[in-house]
Formats: sequence, structure tokens, C-alpha cells
Amino acid sequence: MPRVAARLRLVAAAVALCIAGATLTACSPASVGTAPEVATPPMGWNSWNHFGCSVTEADVKAAADAIASDGLRSAGYRYVNVDDCWQAPTRGRDGALRADPKRFPDGIAALAAYVHAKGLKFGIYAAPGAQTCAERYQGYPGRLGSLGHEQQDANTFASWGVDYLKYDWCAADREGVGHEQAFARMRAALNATGRPIVLSIHDKPEQPVPAWRRWVSDLSRTTPDIRDDWASIVSIVRSTLKVARLASPGFWNDPDMLEVGNGGMSDDEQRSHFALWAQLSAPLLIGSDLRTASPASLRILGARGVIRVDQDALGAAPTIIRSSSTELVLLKRLADGSSSLTITNLSASPQRFTVTGKSLGMGSGFTAEDAWTGMKSGRPSDGTDRVSVGLASHATAMYRLSPRS
Ligand code: GLA
Repeated sequence: MPRVAARLRLVAAAVALCIAGATLTACSPASVGTAPEVATPPMGWNSWNHFGCSVTEADVKAAADAIASDGLRSAGYRYVNVDDCWQAPTRGRDGALRADPKRFPDGIAALAAYVHAKGLKFGIYAAPGAQTCAERYQGYPGRLGSLGHEQQDANTFASWGVDYLKYDWCAADREGVGHEQAFARMRAALNATGRPIVLSIHDKPEQPVPAWRRWVSDLSRTTPDIRDDWASIVSIVRSTLKVARLASPGFWNDPDMLEVGNGGMSDDEQRSHFALWAQLSAPLLIGSDLRTASPASLRILGARGVIRVDQDALGAAPTIIRSSSTELVLLKRLADGSSSLTITNLSASPQRFTVTGKSLGMGSGFTAEDAWTGMKSGRPSDGTDRVSVGLASHATAMYRLSPRS
């Protein structure tokens, strides 16, 4: 806790300085340090990909129940986050945001308490302009953006027990709001509440990425909205690889919530999606209904060997070893001196792939442990000098490679 408080003070000071100054980019991220909450990429659940604007209190409670009882909590899943459309269409007389009375009859504070009682953390959604994205683009009623209400909304969230805020741009430029000012203002408002609240931002995910995102936010979206199909996964991975080196403990690239369990992809594609998110040190936010996700999808979400790679303390960016229209080979350095290798078959037919130790800078031999099954190949004493694997279309092999002992 003292580390959190110290970090909050530093961030508050940095934000105050930066807001006062004209050149926001002069603010140094290095002065800010790392909150324990985001020392590794956040893991949890988010309502949007499956429920969209029809999300209810019961859906959120069911997600918390499933995470607490299905072994997902012990696998590391923590946050239960309600996305857009939790709000009643108007603010109260005091100007405060309120929950939709039909879909969230008990209110958000009670919902957060329910989630906390399961040993989990609670997250919510807001936007810096006049409207949230669903209001702007999907006809959800109201003008509930936080513009002009930043401190009031931050106070409301803190009083409800919110631990994580997704703050979504949603064309706030239409109100003449500047990007860094908008996000820095909410960062400062959250800090002023005294409650540690993770700030996940979705600014315009253009490249190059402005430096201020790093000190204002804990995670930042890299790409437009994910879809539940293979083409979307490949396109997001390719874009996020371009900015992979910007992420490190305390600031994570966010390629969007998971689609595992939503039914649009084969099991191999879902496994690839999950493994590649882990290689990218992405937040692992389940985006499906855990009551109806298939057993195969639940096994993917609970794969400890893959989650271990995602949560590795180093948070290193993967190196692209080979990339073409048929294959993607990535290598990520891990804290214990081993490395995580993924080989993805991007082609429409089964293929065999061989990756030599030499091409990975591991010429003198290594042992390979399959991240999905824990099976080892290569003897610790003499190791092996290559990995050779046959992969179905859109499948990914993932190995933990340890140098020969
Ligand atoms: C944007 C975000 C999505 C989701 C919706 C909600 O599209 O990118 O993740 O939060 O808004 O309206």
C-alpha cells in the first residue's frame, strides 16, 4: 500500500505539473514508477464483446461467480468490468451519473461490493467528451460523457468502490477537447480521490504513439475494435507488434478484450488468439459469457503455461523471427532466462514449420516445453537445436525454450 500511495503522489505531482505547463510531452514517465496493480498486464472480464448495450447486473454477477468458482481466479483473473451502457440516460439532480434502473436495479455500489466479496476487483466505463461511444454511434440515449464532470465522476466511481476505469475517446474532439488534456484531467481526478484506480485509455490508436500516454495511463488501446474472426486477430497482432517496444511493467499495450468463447472462431484460432495476446503481454480480459462458453474455450482461458508467459515479470516485447503471409514466428524473452516461442500457421492449409536454434540466437541447444501441455522435448543435458512442428491452418505452437543446462 505505501508503494501505491507513493506512486499516486508522484503521478499527481507529474500530472499537476504537466497540466500547468504548455508542453505535456515534456513530462517524464520514468518519474512515475509502477503501481503493483499494473506490474503485469491486468486480467479479468469485460461485458462489451458479448453483451454490448444489453448487459445487466445479473450478467456481471454471473461473470464474477464463474471467475471465482471455475479456477479462473486462481489462474490470475481479477477484474470484473462493466463496459458502456451501464448508465441511466440522464444524470441525477446533483449532476452525478446513475445506473440504469432496469438493468442495474441494485446500483453500482452494490454490484461492486458483490464482486469484491468474491475476492475480485470491479471496473467501469466512461468517456471524456459529451457522449459515450454507444451514445455517439449506436443510439444509446443520453449525453453522459464526463466533460465538465471529471472530478465528480471520479469521486462517484471511488465512492462506489471502482478499481479500474476504461476511459474511451469516442470522438471527444467534436467538443474541442484535446487528447492529452482530456486523459490527464481524468488521471488527476482519479488520483485526487485517493483510491488506486487503474486507468485504461482508448485514445485514437494511431501511430506513432504520443509519449504522454505512458505517464497518464496504465494501458492504452493499440487498434480499432476487435471482431470475433481470424482476420481481425491477425490484423491486430500485426499492428500491435509495431508498437510492442513501448510496453513494459506499468504501461501495457491493449489490443482489446478477448473473443475466446464467443463462437466466431475455431478452437485452433482461439488458441492462437490467446497465445499471441500472451506473447504481446496484453491484458487478458475475457469477453464472453462464461455460463455458455464451450469447455474447450474455458480450457484455453485457463491455460496456466500461456498465462505465465503473459504475466512474465519482464514484460519484454516479442521479436519477430519470421513473418510472411503463411507464418508468424515470435520470440519473447522471459524473466528466468528462458524464452517463449510461438509459431503461427497463417495459411489456409496444414503446414510443417522448422525453427532452428541458430535463428533464435540459441545455437548451442535448448529444451522446449509445450506451453499448452507442459510436455518437454530435448534432454536437459544435450537439448535440441531445432523445433519442428506440423500445424493445422491458423494454429499456433507455443514453447518455453530454456538454454541447455
Ligand atoms: C468503443 C470501444 C469498445 C467499447 C465500445 C462501447 O467502440 O472501443 O471497446 O467500449 O466503445 O460503446
